[in-house]
Amino acid sequence: MNNFVFHNPVKVYFGKGQIAQIAKEIPQDKHVMLTYGGGSIFKNGVYDQVKQALKSHRITEFGGIEPNPRYATLMKAVEIVKAEKIDFLLAVGGGSVADGTKFIAAASLYAGDPWDFCSKNVRIKQALPIGVVLTLPATGSEMNGNSVITHEELTEKRAFSSPLVYPVFSVMDPETTYSLPLKQVSNGIIDTFVHTTEQYLTYPVQAPLQDRFAESILRTLLDEAPKVFHQPNDYDTRANLMWSSTMALNGIIGVGVPSDWSTHGIGHMLTAMHGLDHAVTLAIVLPGVLQVMRAEKKEKLLQYAARVWNITEGTENHRIDKAIELTEEFFNNLGVKTRLSQYEIGPDTIDTIVKRFSEPSPVRMGERGSINPERIREILTSRL
Ligand code: NZQ
Ligand code: ZN
Repeated sequence: MNNFVFHNPVKVYFGKGQIAQIAKEIPQDKHVMLTYGGGSIFKNGVYDQVKQALKSHRITEFGGIEPNPRYATLMKAVEIVKAEKIDFLLAVGGGSVADGTKFIAAASLYAGDPWDFCSKNVRIKQALPIGVVLTLPATGSEMNGNSVITHEELTEKRAFSSPLVYPVFSVMDPETTYSLPLKQVSNGIIDTFVHTTEQYLTYPVQAPLQDRFAESILRTLLDEAPKVFHQPNDYDTRANLMWSSTMALNGIIGVGVPSDWSTHGIGHMLTAMHGLDHAVTLAIVLPGVLQVMRAEKKEKLLQYAARVWNITEGTENHRIDKAIELTEEFFNNLGVKTRLSQYEIGPDTIDTIVKRFSEPSPVRMGERGSINPERIREILTSRL
C-alpha cells in the first residue's frame, strides 16, 4: 500500500429531517448567501425547509447556477458577495451548485482572475466557509474539496481542488431525492460507479480493504439501481444510493492506492464541446479506457470480473471482455446510450480533443501515466 495522508473535515448530517440542523451550524451573526440552481428546490419543498431552518439568519439568495456551472454566472455571485460582505455560503442543490459555490467561496477572496484556480493551478489561500444541502447523489462534492467549472467562452471545463473549500457541513436527506427526474438518478449512479472504478481498476498494491470498499460500492449500486426505478419513493434505496455516492469520492476508497482519472479528463472535453451530461460522457468513455488499457489493468480487471460480476469461467481475455460488456450493458439499462455516434459526435471531435490534449505538451494520464494523446485517440475511436 502506498503512503497517504487522510483528513476529511466535513460534518455530515444524514437522514430524514436533517435540514433543520443547519441553523446551529451557521453562526447567527453570519450574512448567508443561499445558492441554488434552476429552481428544483422550490418544487420539492427543500427551499421551504432551508428558509424555515434559517428564519432568524440574514440571507441573500443567488439562483440560476447551471448544470456544469459556468464561470460567468459564478462571477456575478462573486460581485454580490463582495458588495454585500457576505461571509457564509450555503449551497442547496446538486453537484453543480456545490461546485459553483466552492468557486464563489474562493474567488470572492482572490485578487486576480479566479479562472487561474482551474487553468494555472494557482493555490487557493483563503475561502469563505460553505455548507451544503445536497439534493442529487452523484459527485461526492458534498464531502470533498473538488470543484469543476465550465468556461463557456473558452469551451473549457476544468477542475480545481483545495482543502479550503471542503464544506464545513453537509446535509444529506434521501427524501430530497424523490423528486429527481429518472435521468438524473441514472446519471448519479453512473457517476458514482465511475468514481469508484477510477480508484479501483488500476494495478494491485496489496490494499485489500480499499479493494473491498470499492467492490462493495459497485455491488451496492448494481443491487439498488433496479429498485429505485421500481419504487422511486423507497427511502432505504435512496439512502443507500446517497451514501454510496458520497463514499465513492470523499477520499476513503482512494487512500494508498493508484488512480486513473482519464475517463473524467476525456469526459470533461465532451461536455465542454457538446454539452453532454457529465455522467453520459463517463458512460461513453469508460468502456473504451478499459478496452484500450486492458493489458495494464489486467489483474484488477480479472478481480473486478470475479468479485463484482461473478465471472469466473473462461479464458482471461473472455472474462475481461465479459466484464467490460456487462459494464456497458449496465449503463445502457439505466437508459444511457454509450456510443459517440448516438450523440452525433464524429471523428472531428476526436481530432480536436486529441489536439487539446497534445498542447502545449502531451498529457500523460492513467495510473502509470501511459494514457497519451495517441491512446486517447484509440479510446475515443473505439467509442464511435
Ligand atoms: O438546477 P436545478 O433546478 O436544481 O435542477 C438540477 C439540474 O437540472 C436537477 N436536480 C438536482 N436535484 C434535484 C433536481 N431535480 C429535481 N429534484 C432534485 N432533488 O438535476 C440537474 C443536474 O444537477 P447537477 O447539479 O448539474 O448534477 P450533478 O450533481 O450530477 O453535478 C454535475 C456536476 O458536478 C461535476 C460535474 O462535472 C458537473 O459539472 N463533478 C463534480 C465533482 C466533484 N466536485 O468532486 C466530481 C464529479 O466527477 C463531477 O465532475
Ligand atoms: Zn464524476
